[in-house]
Amino acid sequence: MRCGRVVSCADIIAITARDAVFLSGGPNYRVPLGRRDGLNFATRKETLTNLPPPSSNTSALLTFLATKNFDPTDVVALSGGHTIGLGHCTSFTDRLYPTQDPTMDQTFANNLRVVCPVANSANTNVLDFRSPNTLDNSYYVDLVNRQGLFTSDQDLYTDRRTWSIVTSFASNQRLFFERFVISMIKMSQLNVLTGTQGEIREKCLVRNSDNLSLSSVLKEEKGSWSAFCRLFLFTC
Ligand code: HEM
Repeated sequence: MRCGRVVSCADIIAITARDAVFLSGGPNYRVPLGRRDGLNFATRKETLTNLPPPSSNTSALLTFLATKNFDPTDVVALSGGHTIGLGHCTSFTDRLYPTQDPTMDQTFANNLRVVCPVANSANTNVLDFRSPNTLDNSYYVDLVNRQGLFTSDQDLYTDRRTWSIVTSFASNQRLFFERFVISMIKMSQLNVLTGTQGEIREKCLVRNSDNLSLSSVLKEEKGSWSAFCRLFLFTC
């Protein structure tokens, strides 16, 4: 990815997310542009502080995401991002061992035990087994059937503040798409730099001022790659 110092890497990521949504079967939307890139890279600590763990219940999610100005509808709509992709056993086996989460469907739990015979198995499971590669509302149908993978997913259907939003998205894909677009645009505008703030990086993984690359910063922090990969939703 190289556009010289014309289009920022932050804008490229926002546009790429928009295109990935559409190419996966989701809605098409216009994303506001004009972001500039930061002068520093996110540290491991900063990254992890800004990511709720999958073991979070709805109360924890709502409290944490309210600090970013997200309301319960935003939280439920954005969690719909789990309509595609994979989760590692370590992200959900706390719901199987030593005792099974009572909110989990029994057949679903039996299947997960085959994928993850022990808690720290290295295997993965799809996040939305009804249509793992399509951005649609079937993630919410999973939740209504107690087949959500993470606690942070399934508890949205248990908590009285969010269950009716889950059921409305499960029965109305158009409504989900409308709300998903609103919340994605909102998320893409968190803490943006504009005007003369920051810089437009010539290369996305290298800052202009001193040619310091992201990889050299991360190498100093053991284990940081996995957090980085999770943040940007790709596997390293
Ligand atoms: C609400 C809070 C969220 C939590 C607690 C959360 C947690 C997680 C976890 C633990 C994983 C799997 C990591 C692994 O085991 O490999 C994951 C994967 C994923 N998440 Fe989230 N996530 C959240 C929000 C989001 C949002 C807002 C989006 C996008 C709109 C999103 C999209 C994805 C996707 C696409 C994957 C699959 C990545 C892959 O296939 O490699 N998540 N999430």
